[in-house]
Amino acid sequence: MNQWLTVENLSKRFGGIHALDSFSCHFGQGEVVGLIGPNGAGKTTFFNVLGGMLPADGGSIRFCSKQLVGQSPHRIAHFGVARTFQNLRLIRQVPVIENVMLAFRHQSGEHLVPLAIRWKKVRAQESENHEKALAILKKVGLLEKADDLADALSYGQQKLLTLACCIASDADLLLLDEPLAGVSPVMIDIVLEKLRELKNAGKTLVVIEHNLEVIMNEFDRVIFMDSGRKVCEGLPDEVRNDPRVIEAYLK
Ligand SMILES: Nc1ncnc2c1ncn2[C@@H]1O[C@H](COP(=O)(O)OP(=O)(O)OP(=O)(O)O)[C@@H](O)[C@H]1O
Ligand SMILES: [Mg+2]
Repeated sequence: MNQWLTVENLSKRFGGIHALDSFSCHFGQGEVVGLIGPNGAGKTTFFNVLGGMLPADGGSIRFCSKQLVGQSPHRIAHFGVARTFQNLRLIRQVPVIENVMLAFRHQSGEHLVPLAIRWKKVRAQESENHEKALAILKKVGLLEKADDLADALSYGQQKLLTLACCIASDADLLLLDEPLAGVSPVMIDIVLEKLRELKNAGKTLVVIEHNLEVIMNEFDRVIFMDSGRKVCEGLPDEVRNDPRVIEAYLK
């Protein structure tokens, strides 16, 4: 197993709560890993710390030989990490296509070099990005919604849009926080198909998920966490039958 992303003794406290308590794990490039655990286990906190949205209290995250702990969310995104949020976090009063365009990495317009000198390049890239964004929206089945406000989409479509934003970032590591929660059965199939396409494109996916059928069928490996710690990991079947997992879900 290549140790492409290695997390060691990661800790995060909120007052007296150890949301991450010496949490350690690793991910290999191209893997699709399910991160499971009961409510409050620390799954979202792990994503928040990994993405730099929350500072760690201790520990290390090495990604492609870079240390992510202490880096800003912006830099971590530039290293190739993208995520979706449990509560979506789209820009709701902005058209769907602009949400996707805002997610592109390495945009010329972001730099501080005087725009007057670079305007041609910026304009050309904007038009290229527009085309690329349309292609991504087509891929996720939202092409005809491109000019609608994100707010006007159904909940399932909004989840697809967050996935489109991840695709636009062209990140190698995608952290997906409950991409299927609250989504209709038809939409679940569509989202799962997109996840398989991302895997086939060589992306590494870490997916927080509660749906047992999805956990059993879609993941190469499953990590089970509880109270901020990794309890066990392995093939989906192994984890499902682990007595500690069974007990945690029954308690
Ligand atoms: N910003 C915060 N301030 C204070 N406590 C927090 C904060 N974020 C998370 N917590 C606490 O940290 C613990 C882990 O929360 P987290 O959201 O990471 O769990 P989770 O595994 O994602 O749960 P769920 O399955 O319900 O989404 C919980 O006890 C939660 O109440
Ligand atoms: Mg969560």
